[in-house]
Amino acid sequence: MKKIFIAIISFLGINGTFAAIPKADFNVIPIPQKIELSSSTPFILNNKTKIYYQKGLERNAAFLQHYIEDICGINLKLTKIPQRNNVISLIAENNAAANAEKYTLIVNKKRIHITGNSPEGVFYGIQTLRKSLPILQTCEVEIPAGKVEDSPRFSYRGVHLDVSRHFFPADSIKKYIDIIALHNGNYFHWHLTDDQGWRIEIKSRPKLTSIGSCRAQTNGDGKQYCGFYTQNEIRDIVKYAQDRYITIIPEIDVPGHTTAALASYPELGCTGGPYKVWEVWGGPADVLCAGNSETMNFLHDVFSEIVDLFPSKYIHIGGDECPKERWKVCPKCQAKIKELRIVADSTHSAEQKLQSYIMVSVENFLAKKGRRVIGWDEILEGGLGPDAIVHSWRGMEGAVEAVHQGHDAILSPTSHCYFDYDQEERTPIDKVYSFQPVPEEFDSTEVSHILGVQANVWTEYMPTFERVQYMLLPRLAALSEVQWSEPERMNYTDFLHRLTHLSQLYDKYGYNYAK
Ligand code: ACM
Ligand code: ZN
Repeated sequence: MKKIFIAIISFLGINGTFAAIPKADFNVIPIPQKIELSSSTPFILNNKTKIYYQKGLERNAAFLQHYIEDICGINLKLTKIPQRNNVISLIAENNAAANAEKYTLIVNKKRIHITGNSPEGVFYGIQTLRKSLPILQTCEVEIPAGKVEDSPRFSYRGVHLDVSRHFFPADSIKKYIDIIALHNGNYFHWHLTDDQGWRIEIKSRPKLTSIGSCRAQTNGDGKQYCGFYTQNEIRDIVKYAQDRYITIIPEIDVPGHTTAALASYPELGCTGGPYKVWEVWGGPADVLCAGNSETMNFLHDVFSEIVDLFPSKYIHIGGDECPKERWKVCPKCQAKIKELRIVADSTHSAEQKLQSYIMVSVENFLAKKGRRVIGWDEILEGGLGPDAIVHSWRGMEGAVEAVHQGHDAILSPTSHCYFDYDQEERTPIDKVYSFQPVPEEFDSTEVSHILGVQANVWTEYMPTFERVQYMLLPRLAALSEVQWSEPERMNYTDFLHRLTHLSQLYDKYGYNYAK
């Protein structure tokens, strides 16, 4: 009788009328692998709910507290003391053998249990709970009893940003990282250098920023354009990302896309210059001279500092779109080809193999420091280094070839993953959603070489961070499901329903997105 009475009371609104409590559901993006709802009594989240966290999960508890505060304005108490009732419990099993990112979320009338195989698993459970909540002024919410069991399809879920063509300050980069976290991404590929600007301080090579971070104008606008990150900013951003279980992969793009470096140190080019930081979109013929011993010294200097700044196991060394015309006529490059006894064959020119020599040298240098390189699919052209990861962008062919050679691959084909292409005609959201990352003919070993999928955001036509967000969202929502959810769980019509709710969260955070 008492129970019935309480149930009636809790169902009555302030002025005595029946008011349904808003309900959460687990229809989030990316869709979890398994959701089992039960008809048992739901959990009621309210301002008396506490967040219990196990030792080591302080940060996760604080994230959950902030997310709930962002969504509905209440500030839940955190506690290290286990609670019987009205509690969200965060537990990490530190199960090293298992998939670290796996979590379960169990709801009954007394508590919500988020259990991760590791702290990052707990983090993804928190993301799911956060995305399940209705976005309202009130935080009295009914959360259905049941169980969510979830883990990602791919271990590599990347998002890239080009900060050379346009520069975005540290605060914007942090917002970008927040957006990646909201979509369960775990890698931020930071394209820090290109023809149009060098954007990272390198202490041993100060001209890279005193000269290389400014172009005199952009496409004839007559306005100087500058910007770079100091090493302090970089460290701060790396930590910010780490806190959200996101690894930053820095990209120093070599040997092409290097005019900003050549303008800073002209002795690194085949002709000796003079060079200027490139002022229009598209690249010049000038690239690092492959026959100049100074080039290797330069690369060692730069990558030594990169390794100190970025703990990432993976370092991206570019390798794309390196024109070979300077090398073909450069005495130093030609002498290097002779010295290395490089000969062209039916598939690759001597100059393509010369590029391979540079890329493999950098790979070996980084391997001694315990790092692994990623390169754009052009690194296949002159032959791969022993452990290089191929980043397939000119379609899927690069990935297929890499995997056939026993190498790992990351997928960003222009057809589905280039978010600089417009979302009305060329790469609309349904096309992104339809991306099939694993070729049907792959066997299980081959499948295991597909590390994952990444969105690329090249910023020639994105002068503002508002525009970047608009191009990224909501296509990233579609790609996040390709990255995380098993194909059997995916359905485009259902995704669109779920996207309505996620868009409300975009609104809440003030993200600019395409409608
Ligand atoms: C690329 O889009 N040049 C990798
Ligand atoms: Zn040369």
